[in-house]
Amino acid sequence: MPEKTSVAGIALVLALTAGAAVAATSVEKAVALRQAGYKEMGKSFKAINDELKKDAPDTKLIAAEAKKVHGFSLAIPKWFPKDSGPETGIKMRAKADIWAEPAKFADATKALQVESQKLRVAAGKGDIEAVKVQFKATGGACGGCHKPFRAEEK
Ligand code: HEC
Repeated sequence: MPEKTSVAGIALVLALTAGAAVAATSVEKAVALRQAGYKEMGKSFKAINDELKKDAPDTKLIAAEAKKVHGFSLAIPKWFPKDSGPETGIKMRAKADIWAEPAKFADATKALQVESQKLRVAAGKGDIEAVKVQFKATGGACGGCHKPFRAEEK
């Protein structure tokens, strides 16, 4: 009898730990996904900046990277599921205000979507002067969210 109990006990403990592990993993995955997404978006944005500094910027490259930036901007709303904020204890720069002020965060997201769409259009036309102007506006939208919603690097 004691043996049976302990087997049942072990099964229960295993079931509970497995459940907890799965839950932790999905939050960790959500955070990892968004951080990877932002890093990729940052890379694309930097690639455009590097290109713009050249005497003869590669308009095709800029168009491809601008398309990616816009694509990432559209994905942002999916990157912040409930309960994936700093309260998880996971290392991140996302501030709790994102979840506390969803309308404000949505506005900041929308601003990037609008500006990066214009960037994409200018880049698609190969109009470097328009790209330069719009690159600045898009950068402003990055900052417009980072200022209120991204914490200092720890
Ligand atoms: C709507 C809000 C928002 C917008 C717009 C936004 N970011 Fe961020 N960004 C964040 C948040 C929040 C984090 C931190 C995420 C985390 O650590 O969980 C972040 C993280 C990053 C990171 C990862 C490295 C780091 O500092 O943590 C890079 C790179 C980055 N952003 C670049 C950009 C660029 C480039 C743009 C504009 C093209 C941009 N972001 C626009 C909110 C935003």
